[in-house]
Amino acid sequence: MKVTVTRTPAEVKEVIKDWKKQGYSIGLVPTMGYLHEGHGSLIKKAVEENDKVMVSVFVNPIQFGPNEDLETYPRDFDADLKMIESLGADMVFHPEPSDMYASDFSTTISVAGVSENLCGARRPGHFNGVCTVVTKLFNLSEADRAYFGQKDAQQLAVVRRMVRDLNANIEIIGCPIIREDDGLAKSSRNTYLSSEERKAATVLNKALCAGKQMVEEGEKSALTVKLRIEDIISKEPLAKIDYVEITDWNSIEPVDIIDGSILCAIAVYIGNTRLIDNFIYEV
Ligand code: PAJ
Repeated sequence: MKVTVTRTPAEVKEVIKDWKKQGYSIGLVPTMGYLHEGHGSLIKKAVEENDKVMVSVFVNPIQFGPNEDLETYPRDFDADLKMIESLGADMVFHPEPSDMYASDFSTTISVAGVSENLCGARRPGHFNGVCTVVTKLFNLSEADRAYFGQKDAQQLAVVRRMVRDLNANIEIIGCPIIREDDGLAKSSRNTYLSSEERKAATVLNKALCAGKQMVEEGEKSALTVKLRIEDIISKEPLAKIDYVEITDWNSIEPVDIIDGSILCAIAVYIGNTRLIDNFIYEV
């Protein structure tokens, strides 16, 4: 069946009104496009679990900082559409920034605490932009469930907190990280890497695996695990650490002692490209 492409919020509302009238359950997969198997895994799960699935493809300008890659962020809507269609989703929402943000747009959703460490500390305003666009997508789609990858673990924690705090009528489904054969987490930004950098980028997953093994074997000192991860990354000449942090998985506050569920998150520059990856250890 052919997927319906919508461009404006009004077009989305029309489709959703029809779905609601028929009593369909709705799944939402928010993306910025340039889709890979990571996004694909979210869409597949959404198709399995809902009568109708809406995928959004929108490079959201308000979540990018002034010196970030908004202009160069990779885009290929034709390829995205093919993939979305082949996975059986029903609607793609592909707006222009002006369709989403009126010139006098004045509202921001801001989640304190959980959005302030890790990427929140390095990318001021980023999670406000994410929460604002995600709230708009929740409202437009009236979805029962929305699918987010653990690849962006802090984003998942922030969205979960926002939904809980605001009593949003939607279930957030977290999905595992999909990786390349050599362990590199799939990311639209991997296209920025030269072939030499692409090889160097495997150091992120290697370091995380070593850290995870230590935690699984009972290491309780966050510092010891952190130092081991930093040591492995620092041996790769093309890599520069932005952060290596171990936090509580719920609050995203740093921990010294590993005795509850934790997020171990890293951000590493490979050349000029900033990559993120993580593992979660749940007790
Ligand atoms: P984007 O980076 O396109 O990611 C869309 C969704 O795909 C996110 O939930 C992300 O965690 C998930 N994803 C990306 N790579 C993945 C991988 N290797 N394995 C599993 N899931 C993966 O995240 C965003 O867009 C934006 O911030 C958005 C939520 C759409 C708001 O603009």
